[in-house]
Amino acid sequence: MGNDIVDTDLFEAYLLGHPFTGKPVNLYNAMNYIMQLGGKRMRPKLLLLAYHSVKGELDQEALKLALAIETFHNFSLVHDDIMDNAPIRRGKKTVHEEWDQSTAILAGDNLLIKAYQLILDTNYACKDQLLKAYTKMSAQVCDGQQMDMNLPKQSQITEAEYLQMIQLKTAVLPAVALQMGALAAGANEAVCNAFYDFGLHLGMAFQLQDDYLDAFGSAQDIGKQEGGDIIENKRTILLLHALQHLKGADLNQLQNLIDQAPADDAFKISTVRQLMKQAGSDQHLLQLKHVYETSAHQFLDIACPEPQQQAGLLSLFEGLKTRVY
Ligand code: IPE
Ligand code: IPE
Ligand code: MG
Ligand code: MG
Ligand code: MG
Repeated sequence: MGNDIVDTDLFEAYLLGHPFTGKPVNLYNAMNYIMQLGGKRMRPKLLLLAYHSVKGELDQEALKLALAIETFHNFSLVHDDIMDNAPIRRGKKTVHEEWDQSTAILAGDNLLIKAYQLILDTNYACKDQLLKAYTKMSAQVCDGQQMDMNLPKQSQITEAEYLQMIQLKTAVLPAVALQMGALAAGANEAVCNAFYDFGLHLGMAFQLQDDYLDAFGSAQDIGKQEGGDIIENKRTILLLHALQHLKGADLNQLQNLIDQAPADDAFKISTVRQLMKQAGSDQHLLQLKHVYETSAHQFLDIACPEPQQQAGLLSLFEGLKTRVY
């Protein structure tokens, strides 16, 4: 069953069967548009796999909780794409491009509210604990996103600040998805915490890979604008490392590309990519990603000691490590 959650369209079918309805229709169309564009569905799958590994079965309530988590994620994407000036998401136009900025803001707001409603509609006895974990996480994601927006304005950024930022904007969501799955299935606190820590480390590796793919992946694979972070001068670990390790003319060239925002995006992307590789920034990122993956495995072994119990989670995790989109 664990592997079925990873491999089949169980969650996808549930999502497609539960669209959001209401008026004005353009608002709900925008919400359903992003929800139905696909994506990896990593967070709801993690929740379902944690639930299944604890309880040995799945039910409709768990799917509802999983839908809440995916709905929150989609809220964060719609607003993130406005903040990052992103034209493409999941291979299609972003909501603010397909509609307009006001619709995208409201569609995001409403997705966030619908996510709460879904959790409130479940009948778990531990609903208060679920809401508490979820609410704490939601606030942390906003904190992380603001830190992400603040970084380009700061002159000196340490790797520790970058890591704190990605923990908040990205890693706490898979962590809470796993924690909520375990909690709803009736796991004890120690097991729930181990699931949380597994998700937190997996989430750190996930954002590092996201930053890698944004810089070095192809538009076709990632379903986003190629080199979007480079164009926007996002302070990813790649840029931080390159700024710290390049010297002389190379450092000047990188600094000029950041400061002057050249009209030719393709030139900027290819030159920055080359400078990052020259500085060894890609290798540095991949090494750090490996460190987080290793600790994620240790927490997974604590959360699910039995090989059979962790098979589905392991298979999802292995797929994420080498993902190209
Ligand atoms: C994108 O998440 C946002 C990040 C935290 C990096 P995903 O890469 O999981 O996006 P989808 O849901 O698969 O499209
Ligand atoms: C997004 O980080 C994190 C959240 C949406 C909270 P990114 O800005 O790197 O995500 P992508 O690359 O646009 O998917
Ligand atoms: Mg962003
Ligand atoms: Mg973005
Ligand atoms: Mg990104």
